[in-house]
Amino acid sequence: MKPEKIREDFPIFDERPELAYLDNAATSQKPESVIDAVENFYRENNSNIGRGLYELANDATQAYKDARSKVAGFINADSDEVIFVRNTTEAENLLASSLDFEGGIVLSKMAHHSEQLPWRRKADEEDKNIEYLGTENGKISIKSAKDKIDEDTGLVAISHISNVFGAENPVEEIIEIAHDNDALVVLDAAQSAPHRPLDVKDIDADFVAFSGHKMLGPSGTGVLYGKKELLQDMRPYQVGGGMINSVEHDEVKYADAPERFEAGTPNVAGAVGLAAAVEYLEDIGMENVSAHSKKLAEKMIGGLEEIEGIDVISPEGANLVSFTCEYAHPHDVAEVLNQHGVAVRAGHHCAQPQMVELDVNGATRASPYIYNTEEDVEKFLESVREASEIFNAT
Ligand SMILES: Cc1ncc(COP(=O)(O)O)c(C=O)c1O
Repeated sequence: MKPEKIREDFPIFDERPELAYLDNAATSQKPESVIDAVENFYRENNSNIGRGLYELANDATQAYKDARSKVAGFINADSDEVIFVRNTTEAENLLASSLDFEGGIVLSKMAHHSEQLPWRRKADEEDKNIEYLGTENGKISIKSAKDKIDEDTGLVAISHISNVFGAENPVEEIIEIAHDNDALVVLDAAQSAPHRPLDVKDIDADFVAFSGHKMLGPSGTGVLYGKKELLQDMRPYQVGGGMINSVEHDEVKYADAPERFEAGTPNVAGAVGLAAAVEYLEDIGMENVSAHSKKLAEKMIGGLEEIEGIDVISPEGANLVSFTCEYAHPHDVAEVLNQHGVAVRAGHHCAQPQMVELDVNGATRASPYIYNTEEDVEKFLESVREASEIFNAT
C-alpha cells in the first residue's frame, strides 16, 4: 500500500495539504470516486425509485439495486439481507424496536452508546434483565461471556472492534456461546467493516450493523444486515410508502425485506456513493487496509509509551490508539495537537460506562486509515511530546 499515492485521491488533502487527519474512527474522508458517484447520480440519474414508469426512474431504481448488491457482496450477504439505514445508530434502533424475543439482554461494558441505549430502553420498556460483559486487556472477557450468557439470555449485543480500545473482540467465541444458549447476536461492526474483511456467513452473527461514512462513504449511509429468516418475522420499524405489497381499508400487507424496513424515499445518492466506497476499498484489498492501520497504530503506541506522563489504553494489535496524559485533560491535549494540524478525537467517545470502568475522565484517540502516512505518525508523536512538556511544566 502506498498511502502517499492514495492521499492524492482525496480532494480534502489538496485543500489542506498539511492536515494529519487521525480521527477516522469518527468519520473517514471521501475519495474523488465517491464524490463523483454522488454528484453524477444527481447530474445524470436522479429520480425517485421503485415508482416511476419512465426510463430515468428505471435507471435510478437500478442504480439503487446495484448499490445494494455491491454492498451485500462486500460482506458476503445476499442482497435481500441488506437494509440501508442512516448509520449504525439507526440500525440498532431499528432492531431494538422491531425484534421480538424472549429472555434477557447481554451487553458489554465497552459498548458505544448507540449500541447500548436502544437495548437498555427496550429492557426498561419490556421489563427485561440486562447483564454486562466485562473488559480484559481492551477486549471483551470470554470468562464473563461464559458467566453471563445462559439459557435465560435472549439477545447478546457486542462490538466487533471497540472504538475506545481498537482491538478485535473474540466475537466468534462469544457468538458460539450465545448460539449454544439459543440467543440472538447483534454485532456492531462500525469499527470493523472499514478496517478488516467482514464475512457475515463466516462470522455467523444474526445481525450486523455498520456506518458507510466511516468507510469512505457519504454521511447518512449505513447498513443493517440480518439473516433472511429473522428479517421476515420482524415488524417494520417505520411504516409508509415504498414498504407495502398492498393497502386496503381493513388490511395492510407489508413487502418482504429489505423494502419492508425502508419506508419512504431512501438516500439513493448515498447508496450509490457507498457502493463506490466499497469498490475503492475492494481495489485496495481489506487485508491491506487492516495491515496498514495496525502498522501505524503500533508505531503510535510504541512512540507514546516513551513519552513521560502518557498512559496508553489500547492493547497491542489495536488499529487505533487511545491514551491519557497524567498532566492534562484529553481536550487540552487535543487542542495542542490541533495547533500542529493533527486532528484527533478527545472525550468519552460515546462510551461513558467504559470510561468510568477505566477510572478516567476521557481519553485522546488517534485513529489512522488508508491515507495516513508515517509522516502523520511522526507529526502526531511530536505534538504529543510537546503537549506532555507543556502540561508537565505547568
Ligand atoms: C463502535 C461504534 N458503534 C457505533 C457507532 C455509531 O456510529 P454512527 O454515529 O455512525 O451511528 C460508532 C461511532 O463512532 C462506533 O464507533
